[in-house]
Amino acid sequence: MPDHKIRAGFIGCGGHAFRNVYPTFQFAPVDLIATCDLHEDRAKQFARQFGAHRHYTDHREMLDKEDLDGVFIVTGYGPDNRPLYPPLAIDCMKAGCNAWIEKPPAASVAEIEKMMAVEKETGKFTFVGLKKAYFPAIERLKEITERPEFGGLMSLYLKYPQYIPNENEKDLATSLRMRGFLDHIVHPGSIIDYLAGKIRHIYYERSPRGGGIMNIKFTSEATGVLHFTSGRSNTSPLERIEVIGHGENAVVDNGVRLTYYRKGNRGEGGYGRATNFMGPDDQAPITWEPEWSLGQLYNKQIFLLGYAFEVIEFANCILQNRYPTRGNLESARELLKLYEAFQHPPGQIIPINPPR
Ligand SMILES: NC(=O)c1ccc[n+]([C@@H]2O[C@H](COP(=O)([O-])OP(=O)(O)OC[C@H]3O[C@@H](n4cnc5c(N)ncnc54)[C@H](O)[C@@H]3O)[C@@H](O)[C@H]2O)c1
Repeated sequence: MPDHKIRAGFIGCGGHAFRNVYPTFQFAPVDLIATCDLHEDRAKQFARQFGAHRHYTDHREMLDKEDLDGVFIVTGYGPDNRPLYPPLAIDCMKAGCNAWIEKPPAASVAEIEKMMAVEKETGKFTFVGLKKAYFPAIERLKEITERPEFGGLMSLYLKYPQYIPNENEKDLATSLRMRGFLDHIVHPGSIIDYLAGKIRHIYYERSPRGGGIMNIKFTSEATGVLHFTSGRSNTSPLERIEVIGHGENAVVDNGVRLTYYRKGNRGEGGYGRATNFMGPDDQAPITWEPEWSLGQLYNKQIFLLGYAFEVIEFANCILQNRYPTRGNLESARELLKLYEAFQHPPGQIIPINPPR
């Protein structure tokens, strides 16, 4: 374990934090000092379970009394269905702490920009837990797209079982459908943002039961498709991502199985004459998938799904005094632009980052 650790507080002692965030501290340079929840019994129980010294029911009291480098915030939504993160992250930054917040980071671009202004004012930062950009398979996919032989990312396809609210379901304050959309659009959105960067415009269509498609034009001139596979069976894997370069492509299925199709040819003799579907080994597709035998860290879900990596990166940013490049508020703003684009009805081109 590393010698240098951040002194951390934690606001929120709920289900997701219990399953997926507190457990990462075993593997991250994080010394958990204090927990906080509106329910004292939870704050106390989590402090005991995860080794914090003190617990609180008011985050301001925790920030006043403790000397913390970073605060993890995993609290969810208020009664108006808006994520609780912006005001809490602002309180932390103003108290001199960096903040790590869960997704969805906010309900509007304006709220993200408020947090950005406080970053500037305080010199502290807010890091958003966009786990999918930290999946090992997605990281490798991104790295493949950057290899010269890949030829640049020209297009991508992503499938994700998201329901698109209809026009009567778009008032966030009253619609659990819209809250569900905000809750999840950041997942495919963060993969798209990580792999392909800023979006110039989108066009989407909705099927009668809420599935649909979104066409994407990126500012890089690359193109993309997000297939909203709402309506698929619950027995099916959720996701598939394919990136296309120039004579090469790569696919991640189910978040863990990566296949890289390198430049190459099958068989010999040309069309109509080749008798063998295989080509030379040095042109063969490369496939990576987990093995399920060894007690390795890489087999733990908190590593496969990126949770440990995003927490380690937050802590390292603090220890090394650097601003995060993945999961920062710039990326969060792009995700909220995408969310806000869906306030428009389907069937039209909706600008996201139009040319100036
Ligand atoms: N990244 C992922 O894979 C993933 C998965 C599940 C949930 N989440 C996100 O995690 C968040 C929490 O979800 P959950 O299901 O654990 O919710 P939850 O309701 O189980 O937990 C939230 C906890 O925060 C506490 N809380 C709320 N406001 C507080 C405040 N001001 N001060 C102190 N404590 C406060 C609540 O009392 C509750 O104990 C949501 O944003 C959700 O979208 C992310």
